[in-house]
Amino acid sequence: MDLNGHTFLAKVLNIVNENKSENSPLIDFKHPHELEAILDLDVSKGCTDAELEKCVREVLQYSVKTDRATFKNQLYGGMDPYGLSGAWIAEAFNTSQYTFEVAPAFTLIELTMIRHISRLFGISGGDGIFSPGGSMSLFYSIVAARYKAFPEVKSKGMRALPDMVLFTSEDSHYSIKKAAHWLGFGTESVRVIKTNARGQMLVDELDSELQKERSLGRYPLLVNATAGTTVLGAIDDLPAIAELCKKYGVWMHVDACWGGSLILSSKYKHTLSGIESADSMSWNPHKMAGAPLQCSVALVRERGLLHAANAAAATYLFHRDRFYDTRYDTGDKSVQCGRKIDAFKLWMMWKARGDSGLCLLADYTMSIAQFCLQSVSTRPGFRLVSDTLQCPNVCFWYIPTFMRGAEEDAGWWELMHKITPKIKELLTLSSRLMVAYSPLREYKNFFRMAFTFHPVVKENQVLEMLQAIEDCGESITMPMLL
Ligand SMILES: Cc1ncc(COP(=O)(O)O)c(C=O)c1O
Repeated sequence: MDLNGHTFLAKVLNIVNENKSENSPLIDFKHPHELEAILDLDVSKGCTDAELEKCVREVLQYSVKTDRATFKNQLYGGMDPYGLSGAWIAEAFNTSQYTFEVAPAFTLIELTMIRHISRLFGISGGDGIFSPGGSMSLFYSIVAARYKAFPEVKSKGMRALPDMVLFTSEDSHYSIKKAAHWLGFGTESVRVIKTNARGQMLVDELDSELQKERSLGRYPLLVNATAGTTVLGAIDDLPAIAELCKKYGVWMHVDACWGGSLILSSKYKHTLSGIESADSMSWNPHKMAGAPLQCSVALVRERGLLHAANAAAATYLFHRDRFYDTRYDTGDKSVQCGRKIDAFKLWMMWKARGDSGLCLLADYTMSIAQFCLQSVSTRPGFRLVSDTLQCPNVCFWYIPTFMRGAEEDAGWWELMHKITPKIKELLTLSSRLMVAYSPLREYKNFFRMAFTFHPVVKENQVLEMLQAIEDCGESITMPMLL
C-alpha cells in the first residue's frame, strides 16, 4: 500500500477508460448472491495496490456501462464529456459550496448559472440553489412556499399552522409524497388530480378540488405542475394552471426535472410556455442534458426567500465580521452544511458549448425520439401508448406473434403485463439493451425508451434496439410466463 495513494490514483484513469470501451458489455448481470461470491468486498485487512487494482477492475466489470446508447433504463444516461471533466475537477478540488472563502470561483460560478438559467426560464430576478436531485429541489420549493405563507413555521413548526393541502397529478413524480412526509404535511395532504390520455393534469378537476378544499376550510398551499412526467413525458397545461394558482392565491411549482432541458431548444422551448409564471421550479440537468449525477437546480421567484426560509446563521461558519463581502457566503440558503459544487459541472458543459451547442443537442434528441416513435408506429408487433411526443419519451408494447389477432380481453392484457418484464429480463441477461418498463393508470406494463443528449444515438442504433426487443419478444413461450 502506498501511504499517500497517489501512485494508484494515476492508474485510475486508464482503468476507467478500459472498462468504458465498447468492448466491455453493457451489463454482465449477476444476482446479488453470485456477485457477493465474486467480489472481494471485505475491508478489514487492507491490501496492496496490485490487489486493489484487481478488485477495482472486478467492480467495474460488473457495473452497468450507463454511457452506452443501449442504456435506456433511466432518465439519465451518458455524460457530457465536458461535464465529466468538471466533475473530476470538482472532486479533485474537494471543497464545499457554502462560503466564498473556501469556494471563491465556484461561488461566482453557481451564481452565474442560477442567473443564466433563471433568465432562460423567464424567472429572472429571483434566486436558486443547486441541490443533490429533483426530490431535494422540490423540498426546497415547498419549504419556500410554506415559509412565504407562514413564516412562523420556522420557529413554531407545523403545530402553529392550518391544515394544508398540496396538489399534483396522478402521473407526477412520487417525490411529492416523500416531501409531504418529510416536511410534516403527511401523505394524506397530497391531492392527486387525474390526467388526460396524454398524461396532462386535468385543469378543470384541479379547479374543483381547489374550491372544495377551500370550502372545507383547508389551506391549498402549492400546486405541483409537471413539465415532463417520468413515464410519458407529458407537459401539463402550464398557462391554465398558472391562471388557477393566481385565482386562488396558491404557490405554483413546476417540476421540470425531466422536460426542463427543452428550454435549451429553440424549436421546442415553446412547449414550456407558462413556466415563467411559476413561483418556483426544479430542473435536473443530470437527466436529459447529460450533466454528471447529481446536478439539479431549484429556482424561486422571490429573491431572499430561500435564505430567509433556511438560514440558521451559525456564527462559526457564516461570520458577519469577515474581511470580504459576506453576501457571497451563499451556503445558509441551503439545508445542507457541506454541499458539492454541482454547478461547476454544468458550467463546464455550457461554457464549452454555449447556448447554441446545447440547442443543437436538444433538437437532435427530440428528432431521434421522433424517429423512434415513427419506427415503432410502423413496425409489426409494436404498439404505441401515445402517438405524440411531448418530451423524448417513446412508450410502447411489443406484442409477440403468438399474441396477435386474439381478442384483447382482460386475460390477454394480463399476459401482456407479464410479457413486457420478461422481454426486459431477456434483454438484460443478453446485455443487448437495458430499457425501462412501467404500468400506468389502466395501462399494463409497457416499455419507456427515453432519449438524452448523450450519447448521440444514431438511427441504426434505434433500429438495433427495436430489433433486440423483437428478437427477445419472439423467443418467449407460454411456459416462460407461468
Ligand atoms: C419528473 C421527475 N421529477 C423529479 C424526479 C426526481 O429527481 P431525482 O431522481 O433527481 O431526485 C424525477 C426522477 O426521475 C422525475 O422524473
